[in-house]
Amino acid sequence: MSETLANLLQETRRFPPPADLAAAANVTADAYDSAAEDRLAFWARQAGRLDWSTEWDQILDWSNPPFAKWFVGGKLNVAYNCLDRHVAAGHGDRVAIHWEGEPGDTRTITYADLLAMTSQAANALTDLGVTAGDRVAIYLPMIPEAAVAMLACARIGATHSVVFGGFSADALTNRIQDASAKVVITADGGFRRGKPSALKPTVDEAVAKCPTIERVLVVRRTGQDVAWSDRDVWWHEAVETASTEHTAEAFDAEHPLFILYTSGTTAKPKGILHTTGGYLTQAAYTHHAVFDLKPESDVYWCTADIGWVTGHSYIVYGPLANGATQLMYEGTPDTPHKGRFWELVQKHKVTILYTAPTLIRTMMKWGDDIPRGHDLSSLRLLGSVGEPINPEAWIWYRENIGRGECPVVDTWWQTETGAIMISPLPGVTSTKPGSAMRPLPGISADVVDDQAQSVPDGGGGFLVLREPWPSMLRTIWGDDQRFVDTYWSRFEGLYFAGDGAKKDDDGDLWLLGRVDDVMLVSGHNISTTEVESALVSHPSVAEAAVVGATDPTTGQAIVAFTIPRGSVDTEGSAGEALIAELREHVSKTLGPIAKPRQILLVPELPKTRSGKIMRRLLRDVAENRSLGDVTTLQDSSVMDLISSGMRSGK
Ligand code: WT7
Repeated sequence: MSETLANLLQETRRFPPPADLAAAANVTADAYDSAAEDRLAFWARQAGRLDWSTEWDQILDWSNPPFAKWFVGGKLNVAYNCLDRHVAAGHGDRVAIHWEGEPGDTRTITYADLLAMTSQAANALTDLGVTAGDRVAIYLPMIPEAAVAMLACARIGATHSVVFGGFSADALTNRIQDASAKVVITADGGFRRGKPSALKPTVDEAVAKCPTIERVLVVRRTGQDVAWSDRDVWWHEAVETASTEHTAEAFDAEHPLFILYTSGTTAKPKGILHTTGGYLTQAAYTHHAVFDLKPESDVYWCTADIGWVTGHSYIVYGPLANGATQLMYEGTPDTPHKGRFWELVQKHKVTILYTAPTLIRTMMKWGDDIPRGHDLSSLRLLGSVGEPINPEAWIWYRENIGRGECPVVDTWWQTETGAIMISPLPGVTSTKPGSAMRPLPGISADVVDDQAQSVPDGGGGFLVLREPWPSMLRTIWGDDQRFVDTYWSRFEGLYFAGDGAKKDDDGDLWLLGRVDDVMLVSGHNISTTEVESALVSHPSVAEAAVVGATDPTTGQAIVAFTIPRGSVDTEGSAGEALIAELREHVSKTLGPIAKPRQILLVPELPKTRSGKIMRRLLRDVAENRSLGDVTTLQDSSVMDLISSGMRSGK
């Protein structure tokens, strides 16, 4: 990678763990050594945090790579591990979920309640004809029934496929068809931005094209009118009347737990398959280690949606396996006002917050006054996930949300990895803003060059994983060949993550974004993340997205789409002056080679619903092409705004 990358790494600030946290940390530095000594024994010890009805006879079967089997011969039930065993241990009265609806309605659900609800749903699904091995699609808003539906599937061995509630009928159709799902669990609608937003009509449209669907189970959430057919069953009639007794059956460690389709900024979505024992082991261990969860005293909040892997591993399976008390919120961060998140942190005395850089930058844009108006003193640990977090946002998060005291854990992982792979340990690591630091104990990540050679400290290249890990994807549903081609063919014997990365002089890791987001400018590799980071380090910039556009002289040229901070004047010549200043700023920060050919000041950026910038669309704009597929965009009107700005030369 380019020599200019060194500039990103001029970040020299260090933040050691707070002494009290370090002294009482769940995981200490010796975990690295013990895992390095015997990786498989280390994971077997972590599997021991779960209740197994049959012990495994082999920790890892890697005789047919890249198809892994973990804890071979072992049997367990995931829902039993998330619910029954906590109730049996006397924690039935502990709150599992403090739920907050967007309109202000609330529910408090204990572990005993959640077990009863899940048992009812398991009985109802069985009555609807669902048996172990069947696939169930879940298309729900962020209501407790979403977690109940997932756990009920796990309890009876049905494989769930959660589809994000913001996806279109086409996206839902494709996912149902690919998995041949038998049942869909949905709701009449959910609340978003102060209004009921319908889900059932989308399901009706999708199901019309999905002959495998036998039943549609519908939660009443908003009370809006819904069309009804013989296939449809109300949740309150089928589930809430069912018996609260249900005996969980143990399933094989490699039984398929869920399929989750990667949101796909590019090709056909891939059905990522996760299984039972290894997945739950690593979800639970990493939640315990990275968030330092103390189940008796912490209130944990992960702001993700259940439709993403973060919601699977760090709202449902990891936290519940660990007996956590958590907050779950249905709506958007600015409804009814921009302080909603901080109001919720204050109300529930949230101690651990896990959110995404895109949200942190949005909060920065809204201004420091908003969090300042709330009591955030309960917070003790902050997490970030989803994309590289630029040092400015990292520092803002620590200062403005974490009082300058809370450790920030930047966690790198993917839908495919199932659980966190690279992250600081909050009681051990002296963090660097913008770096995910080191692979967790038991994980072997590395950075290699295009010849698959490990790069020395100070070098950059491709992020790979050298050894199988318990929560790794097992395949792409129905397409073993694509699994091999996508992840295991670029470098012999290594898992190719698709991310660029750099090792700094201490050997700590800096993630640089997807490798398809690297630009080639006059023969230099420049990462989009690096230029974006330089832009947002300027006080007038709130957010930036950078793409490489075809250029007759330089091969590719850098085009930057930049959102100015709220207070900045961008009218007429002030806008021109700002653009000139920003080009100069990037040139000074990264070197003249990284100076953008063009900077556009825009009001918004096109993002997928999971918050990833759709560079493909920006590239279309930058190269004056008509726009490609915009169906996975969160807000498609954004592109009109951006394109019209481009035409008027702003
Ligand atoms: C891709 C995976 C994992 C849950 C949410 C996203 C990027 C994720 C980080 C991070 C830099 C990150 C990578 C990765 N990514 N976390 N901490 N630092 N990049 O899951 O949709 O499967 O996306 O998100 O590019 O490959 P996903």
